[in-house]
Amino acid sequence: MGKYATLETKEGVGIITFSNPPVNALSSYAVAELVPCFEEAINDDAIQAIVLIGGNNTFIGGADINEFGKTSDQITDIFKILDEFDGKPIVAAIEKYALGGGLEVALCCHFRIAAISAKVGLPEVFLGLLPGGRGTQKLPRLVGVENALEFMMTGKNIPANQAKTLGLVDAISEGNLLEDALAFTKTILKTKPELKKPLSLSCEPKPDAIKAARHIASMRMRGFLAPQAIINCVEAASTKSVEEGLKVERDEFIKLVTSKECFAQIYAFFSEKQSSKIPFLSKDMLPISIKSAAVYGLGNMGNGIAMNFATAGIPVRVFEKDKESLDKGYARIKENYESTHKKGRLSKEKMDRSLSLITPCEDISELKEIDVLIEAIFEDMDLKKKLFTQFCKHSNENTLLISNTSALNIDTIASATKRPDKVCGMHFFNPANKMKVLEVVKGKASSGPTLKTVMSLAKSMKKTPVLVGNCPGFVNNRIFAHFFSQAATLIFQGAPITQVDKAIWDFGFPMGPFVLNDLTGINLSWLMAQAEAKKKPSSKETPYYQLIERLIKEERLGQRTAKGYYTYNLPDRSPIADPLVQDWVTDLAQSYQIKQQTFSDEDIVKRCLYNVINEACKCLDEGMALRGSDIDILALYGYAFPAYRGGIMYYADQIGLSSVLDDIKAFQAQLGDIWKPSAFLEKAVKDNLSLCQTVVQMT
Ligand code: 3HC
Repeated sequence: MGKYATLETKEGVGIITFSNPPVNALSSYAVAELVPCFEEAINDDAIQAIVLIGGNNTFIGGADINEFGKTSDQITDIFKILDEFDGKPIVAAIEKYALGGGLEVALCCHFRIAAISAKVGLPEVFLGLLPGGRGTQKLPRLVGVENALEFMMTGKNIPANQAKTLGLVDAISEGNLLEDALAFTKTILKTKPELKKPLSLSCEPKPDAIKAARHIASMRMRGFLAPQAIINCVEAASTKSVEEGLKVERDEFIKLVTSKECFAQIYAFFSEKQSSKIPFLSKDMLPISIKSAAVYGLGNMGNGIAMNFATAGIPVRVFEKDKESLDKGYARIKENYESTHKKGRLSKEKMDRSLSLITPCEDISELKEIDVLIEAIFEDMDLKKKLFTQFCKHSNENTLLISNTSALNIDTIASATKRPDKVCGMHFFNPANKMKVLEVVKGKASSGPTLKTVMSLAKSMKKTPVLVGNCPGFVNNRIFAHFFSQAATLIFQGAPITQVDKAIWDFGFPMGPFVLNDLTGINLSWLMAQAEAKKKPSSKETPYYQLIERLIKEERLGQRTAKGYYTYNLPDRSPIADPLVQDWVTDLAQSYQIKQQTFSDEDIVKRCLYNVINEACKCLDEGMALRGSDIDILALYGYAFPAYRGGIMYYADQIGLSSVLDDIKAFQAQLGDIWKPSAFLEKAVKDNLSLCQTVVQMT
């Protein structure tokens, strides 16, 4: 009996159970037990067929990601042994998931039976990798070149039924998987079908599909190496011999697994797992069970939040200030679901189930039965305080009272209640139902159980929560405010709008800051500029304020009016540089007597990103984030920082902190104290620390 792999025989069928909790990863030490188990089963004449099943109701979650770059070829033996053996039928019994190397092991078997609830996928692309266990050569043979490309380039998991339709799975089990797998195997033994493996199938060359995939990869997966490598492998599968194809896969895999892009994406994978762990909360402290919820305020954010509750299967009552707004808000939720359904991304059944969980309510006394309430009205502190006083009065003493504010002080909001320990922030990003990351904002009185519950609630909504402290803009908007303000400063110093956008796009962001502004709407920038002017009237005298005011006056509201910083050819919405706006910028720069310079793309990237790094260091210094890697998760998912660069802190580490600090000091000399280096960054340079590995105490 091994620790990771066991073999038992039942009525002539050898059952190999592979267990390596939590996800049954193919760690080298576990595979070292699996291989002899197979050898024994293969060589035992009393065994007529083999069933491979996972322990802990799970098949195999893939290769052990911790081992990449540490050991080489640790798991290739298993693929080779299984692929080269045809003496007796081998059946993979898949429960919960077969991912990456896990699915590739299943594809080495002659047959696959999957539990109805199981999912299969080749998600290697998310790690900057390709399926390196012969998957790139088998998939195109089994499911066709187009399907294989789509499957491996998107890395999506698909449910068992879909896998069966595609031809990845031969049978579905709706009962006990092992029993069904044994019955399936006995039928095989009786009917004796030809034992075929995917590599023995032929694969038709599809040059057009390869060309189309290269185009998609260069547009949508710009900067990522793995998608192009996957295409090279699939092309080889359809044009070369099996041996040559396997060699291409091996060579491409080795290139990827040693690339900096892969290191960055693996770092991001583990950082994401880390981000929901709060070291100062005991592991024994359990989250409060949330069975009912309420959302107050049904604008864009409130709608998305209500939909998130429905995703988590939690009934949610939605409230608004009056009946008209309530009806309007609820109608928009319905429209949202219906449009997703029409696009084929949501089944009617799921849409109806979600809608049945969302109930419009007019009577505030219904808050009495609610476990958690999230407020999502516009940013007005007085109004929020009034509401929280009311929430406190009408809800029960255990109801958690959460604000979705993106900027206001959580402690001030909590002060309007009698139970500040049950108050914290949940800062969703727009659109709240789609954006994966959210900030859980810790107020000074937020209790451990409150935070634990809210983190767990966010996970049940399929989000990645990151705990942050209570400071203006919290962490992500606070640090990225510098990105936008530097971009705005640069255009008045002589960098053309198009050059700034292109430099940022080339760096790997999906769009530059001005194209993004046009997308989010100039009216939003105007609201923010006005709010800033309220706090600091002198900001009205800046060229940026004047530019936004002019854009508004000329009704250039961005993409929705087909004009903003750029003009847009609808419907394809590609931005076209507009000399008129560039002239306004030049005129404003002249009237403010701003010295004009030329900038390289590298200068632009440094100006836009180094102050973000500096501000992120200030956040760590003030204990506003727990870890440098948490800030990376926020940057990756909240601001679409290019995943193959790992995140803003990881990026800074890669450049070298002392070089970043030198540049920041040079910018301070030119541009003033907005560039004052963070003491934390200076200390990190002095002590040779890594920002992405930094863990601090939270205040
Ligand atoms: N290797 C090592 N550790 C893994 C792992 C893997 N493949 N997959 C998950 N883990 C770890 C996580 O880091 C986490 O560790 P922690 O508890 O210390 O934080 C723990 O397992 C549990 O993971 P989750 O919290 O994510 O558990 P879930 O149940 O929510 O999700 C999962 C399980 C769907 C398997 C998810 O973890 C996942 O997507 N894992 C990655 C799967 C993957 O990418 N597989 C391909 C690997 S590359 C490969 O196979 C190459 C091959 O082609 C040669």
